[in-house]
Amino acid sequence: MPQPACTRFLRWALPRLGKRWTGFRPVQQQVCRCLVDRLTTLDLRSFDAYRDYLREHPDEWETVDACSRITISRFYRGAPVFDRLRADELPRLMARAHGTLRCWSAGAASGEEAYTLVLLWHQAVQPGDGTQRLRILATDAQTHMLGRAATAVYEGGSLKELPAPLVRLAFDRAAGPDGLCYSLKPRFRAPVQLALHDVRTPPPTQPFHLICCRYVLMYFDAEVRRHCLAHLTDRLLPGGVLVLGTRDLEPPPDLPLLPINRALRLYRRE
Ligand SMILES: C[S@@+](CC[C@H](N)C(=O)[O-])C[C@H]1O[C@@H](n2cnc3c(N)ncnc32)[C@H](O)[C@@H]1O
Repeated sequence: MPQPACTRFLRWALPRLGKRWTGFRPVQQQVCRCLVDRLTTLDLRSFDAYRDYLREHPDEWETVDACSRITISRFYRGAPVFDRLRADELPRLMARAHGTLRCWSAGAASGEEAYTLVLLWHQAVQPGDGTQRLRILATDAQTHMLGRAATAVYEGGSLKELPAPLVRLAFDRAAGPDGLCYSLKPRFRAPVQLALHDVRTPPPTQPFHLICCRYVLMYFDAEVRRHCLAHLTDRLLPGGVLVLGTRDLEPPPDLPLLPINRALRLYRRE
């Protein structure tokens, strides 16, 4: 099926899901592959036929929504922000946490971001210091991503930004179907709790010291983004830190967030 037909379809369909076409332009091939598979399953010959199908079967919009979730992730993705968290923000937050530091990775993919926080924690806290605890809630809208996060086995490409000493510390090498794999040691998985959650729905009730929501909201339109950011900000403790992706748009100025570093998309709750 020709790509221009899929592009036309996406420009029509994405705004109906509260998503912005421009966010998808560089990754449209991934979305189109998923949609073309779906058309094949439904035995439809064109995207025009698929539009008619959507009009007759409104539940099908859930499939379009699912196909337009981009799942690229890596450990230590965008190193400068993690360096900054390890050096400054985690120690500061820990000093205020009175025992347990609570973090939320929203749109956690296969757990790479949440497990990176665990590794930072092990670097930033004195080894053997039993007085501080770390709890991370890692949520995603896709069960199969959470399944991968639970398995915590990764291909080498997922670790390419992670400093080599951390790879050696935290992973066991294992043979996978496509070559060498890296299995995260159980003690580094332990602080992470996985749960299904859509960022567009009400957030978990507990407050957090640190929330990461990176490369998730950039795909939504301004209204949905604002709604989600208001929820995330609301769940941050005063002085807590919000981390967006460097390609995410900046939060609206009326939310109670002060930039720590705009370029890194790092904000502190007032
Ligand atoms: C591009 S990945 C980013 C993963 C990770 N935050 C990172 O920066 O490496 C986006 C993730 O957000 C998830 N996602 C997309 N829409 C979502 C939604 N409405 N609610 C929760 N997660 C969502 C996708 O399933 C995917 O795993």
